[in-house]
Parts: sequence; C-alpha cells; structure tokens
Amino acid sequence: MNISKRVNAMQFSPIRKFNPIAIAAEKAGKKIYHLNIGQPDVETPECFMDAIRNFDEKVIAYAESGGRPELISAVIDYYKKYDIDLTPADIIVTNGGSEALSMSFITILDEGDEVLIPEPYYTNYSTFALMAGGVVKPIPTVAEDGYSYSDPANIEACITPKTKAICCLEPGNPTGNVLTLDEMRGICELAEKHDLMIIADEVYREFVYDGRTPASFGQLKEYADRVIIVDSVSKRFSACGARIGLAISKNKEFMAGMMKIAQGRLCVSTVDQIGSAALFRLPDSYYDEVKAEYCGRRDAVVEELNKIPGFSATVPAGAFYMTCSLPVDDIEDFLMFLLEEFEDNGESVMFAPAEGFYATPGKGKNEIRIAYVLKQEDMRRGVELIRLGLEAYNKKLGK
Ligand SMILES: Cc1ncc(COP(=O)(O)O)c(C=O)c1O
Repeated sequence: MNISKRVNAMQFSPIRKFNPIAIAAEKAGKKIYHLNIGQPDVETPECFMDAIRNFDEKVIAYAESGGRPELISAVIDYYKKYDIDLTPADIIVTNGGSEALSMSFITILDEGDEVLIPEPYYTNYSTFALMAGGVVKPIPTVAEDGYSYSDPANIEACITPKTKAICCLEPGNPTGNVLTLDEMRGICELAEKHDLMIIADEVYREFVYDGRTPASFGQLKEYADRVIIVDSVSKRFSACGARIGLAISKNKEFMAGMMKIAQGRLCVSTVDQIGSAALFRLPDSYYDEVKAEYCGRRDAVVEELNKIPGFSATVPAGAFYMTCSLPVDDIEDFLMFLLEEFEDNGESVMFAPAEGFYATPGKGKNEIRIAYVLKQEDMRRGVELIRLGLEAYNKKLGK
C-alpha cells in the first residue's frame, strides 16, 4: 500500500502522542495532571446547552455550507465590539479553527509554496500546510525577547518567491507573545509590499494580561483585503468539543475559493452551531471573569516554576501556554519517566515536549510547553510534580 509523501512527511502531534502512555498509567491507578493539552477545565457557559435543549426542529438537517444564519448573525454582532463590520459573505463556519486553517492553506497554497510562521508555533500548522502541499518556513524568535516577531526586517529576511502568507498566532501558542495594533500594522505593510496574505489566528483573542487590550488584524481596515481571521469557540468559550470555528475575510476571491471547499465538505454540525450562536452573545462580564481566572493560573504556574533550579521561561503576555526550558538533556525520556516510573502519593504529571513546536531541526530539545488550563491548585500541584519528578529523574541518572 502506498502512503502519500505528504502524509509520510507529517508527524504525530507532540501534544497527543504520549496520551496512550498516560491512559495506561491512569488505568493502573495513577492520577495524571494533564498540562499537555489546551483543554480548559473551565465550564462551558450554560447558554450553550440551553440553546441546544430549546432547539425544536424535527430533523437534524444539513446546515448551510457557510454556516447557520443565527450563528453568522451572532458572530457579526460580536465583531461589532471590535469595530469590525462583517457581512454574511465575509464568514464561513468551519469545523473548529483547525478546519479554517487547513481550508485557508488549501485555498492559497500551491505545491511547494511557503507560509511564514514565528517559531515555536502551534504544531498542527505543519500538518495543515502539508495537507495543502505547502511548507512552513519558520521566523526565528528568542525566549529572552518574549518570542517577539514584530520586527518586519526579521520577517522580510524569511520571504522567498515561494512565500504566500504570514501566519500570526495572536496571542501565540505556545509562546504567549502578544502584538500591539501598531505591530500588526507593520506586518500588514510588509505583506502589502510583498503581496502576501496574513493569516491571523486569533482564537485566544481575549486572553491578554497585565492591562493589554484585545486587538485584531481585522481592525486594520486599510488591509482588509489581505487579512484572513481564524477564530473558534474552543478556547474563548471553553467549548473545544463543539468543533465550531470561523474563517473570516473581506477578500472575495479568497472567500469564493473557500466556499468551493465548504460546499464539498457539505456543512458543520447543526447542533453545535445552535449552541455556539448563544456563546457569541455572552456579555462582556464573561470575558472579564475568564481572563482573570487564566491570569491567576499563569501567576501560580510562574511562582511554582521559579522553585525549580535551572528552570527558565518568559512570562507569557497572553493565551494560556508557557514554553520553558528544563535542565534535562532528553525531554521525551523525562516525560516517559514521569508517566511510567515516577509517582508522588499516586500522582504524576504530563506536559508537551516543545521540540515538535519547532520546524528547525534541533531546536526546542530541552523545552516543554505547559498549558495552564487547570484550576490554580491543580496547576500548582502539576508543576510541583514536575519539580519532584526532576529530582527523582536526576537521582536515577546519578546526577
Ligand atoms: C493557535 C491555535 N489555533 C487553532 C487551534 C485549533 O483549535 P480548534 O480547532 O479547536 O478551534 C488551536 C488549538 O489548540 C490553537 O492553539
């Protein structure tokens, strides 16, 4: 049997590939703190379930390929808060932000075309680019600078004749980097100069801390024709299993291309769209509460991490991840040790090795990504287990 070169070039997700080992440990009775995946424990707002309970159509019919009207109209109203005026033609509802990304890549990339992404980046971008026959070209960043990629000169140095788009994960996963609106403008100017599209992945938009104001590439009206916004209910509303995302653009040619794919895959879950329409109508107080919760979790994680000798990390400005380096030569070996050998009072912990978040070979080998998606006390215990596990691991290695 032939497996395509495209698929052979893909990797298993570093976020999920250790799950079977964690499940085996859990079956054997160990409690594992999952700091590996961006699956928050925050309750999905009740209005999601209420809307589904009140849905009284007698047939779960296919939805419109572009999305159900009640969801589209709720999305239009939500974006008005950001002074972004959308019409239904600017929006396609997708199966999560993931499908918005893969469809966007398929729409704009030809075989061998490149998308620029600041590195480290959400690992599944590599899979999405490969699905479209494209490749990720990393924009290098450094931890000491908060993983900033806002300097257009650094981005420009990565542009080749094959470059078709710049992807901005805003706020960043796994870095927590946040751009200002002015920095976004600088990147748009560069895109204009080189005739590139901007794929603005804003699934964590509201999660910015320390007095920062949520911003969107969509606010830069003068570049509207170049900007594709990727959005999702997964993180903002803690509804990851609803699988509702959005691709938003004022570029008519791009949207016409996207619609061909959308029609080919028929539609997105009708029921999940009904629930999600209610989510987009939540009041501002919801965002304030959730943001405060994540900010508290971030601070708790930083406090606990600081107790680990040899640890270093940049405090993230947004999203709910943190990339940090640990004084360990082989992170995957350490993770296997945590899952299979180590326990403290019947408990252990799991994180995502960060190497898979880099396209550059050799980078990220001693780094991990922590998702601060659990309650503060659980986050504290999870990081404590990393610290205790590290002591036990070093003892095992005779260090
Ligand atoms: C930056 C980023 N974009 C997109 C996604 C995809 O999310 P979903 O498909 O659940 O909307 C994720 C998920 O973790 C993410 O971190």
